[in-house]
Amino acid sequence: MTAPSALPAPHDTPLDLGGRTALVTGAAGGIGRACALRLAAAGAKVRAVDRDAAGLEALAAAAADLGGAVEPHVLDLTDLDAAESAAAGTDVLVNNAGLQLVRPIEEFPPDVFHTVLTVMLEAPFRLIRGALPHMYGQGWGRVVNISSVHGLRASAYKSAYVTAKHGLEGLSKTTALEGASHGVTSNCVNPGYVRTALVEKQIADQARAHGIPEERVVAEVLLQDSAVKRLIEPEEVAQAVAYLCGPQASFVTGTSLVLDGGWTAH
Ligand SMILES: NC(=O)c1ccc[n+]([C@@H]2O[C@H](COP(=O)([O-])OP(=O)(O)OC[C@H]3O[C@@H](n4cnc5c(N)ncnc54)[C@H](O)[C@@H]3O)[C@@H](O)[C@H]2O)c1
Repeated sequence: MTAPSALPAPHDTPLDLGGRTALVTGAAGGIGRACALRLAAAGAKVRAVDRDAAGLEALAAAAADLGGAVEPHVLDLTDLDAAESAAAGTDVLVNNAGLQLVRPIEEFPPDVFHTVLTVMLEAPFRLIRGALPHMYGQGWGRVVNISSVHGLRASAYKSAYVTAKHGLEGLSKTTALEGASHGVTSNCVNPGYVRTALVEKQIADQARAHGIPEERVVAEVLLQDSAVKRLIEPEEVAQAVAYLCGPQASFVTGTSLVLDGGWTAH
């Protein structure tokens, strides 16, 4: 076996995605926006997918200020055929879009369960399915799935989200096995609680479900199991995504990069 000869020196090699196309779902806000800006800053042409048109326009303006290229693509990912088509021709795919509802199972609306599974599991499958032919054809591709600690651990009252994220872990591993001989890696990134709208929006629900005032939710519910007592920033998650897209990570596949402040060390 020959050693990979094209590896750059392991120190001081900035990510260069010049000439690459990256598709990021849920790019209008939070983690997806940070990923889109990080990949654009590395030179990628970013196809930014979200149902939030105004958020995408704001992202495109921010990317232009950085000298990056972001192409907004307004799309509701429950349209699975459109999702699969949108992924054709992309070199890097970041499956990030997500939503959350905090309710006990016996009160959890079945239609919301269905939507969560559609957006967070079935759409990633269709996007990967749409992206792989081009990646296989050129012998290079990167699939990064934004999972969560909840891809590895459950929390009460999050049945749909935990189910979707556990499924995404399996999809990511299967993609890694099938893609390896084609130069395609697939990994999950698993943050703890990130400072985004998704977390802001669940504070009231968490307070109700746990029977405590809203001002106690962050410390007593969200950060209860985190050894590092702060929320993680979207840009820190984007940096992990960038690492997985770089040449030093070509042997990293089928795994989960956990950024959880020590939560799963328990
Ligand atoms: N915030 C956290 O604490 C946290 C922790 C771990 C993992 N995550 C994961 O990170 C990802 C991003 O979350 P975030 O915190 O940035 O949330 P966010 O709410 O800030 O952003 C999610 C984006 O997804 C988009 N989206 C939702 N449904 C969509 C649909 N049907 N079609 C198109 N776009 C849709 C929203 O418009 C939004 O822009 C999610 O997969 C989430 O599960 C978040």
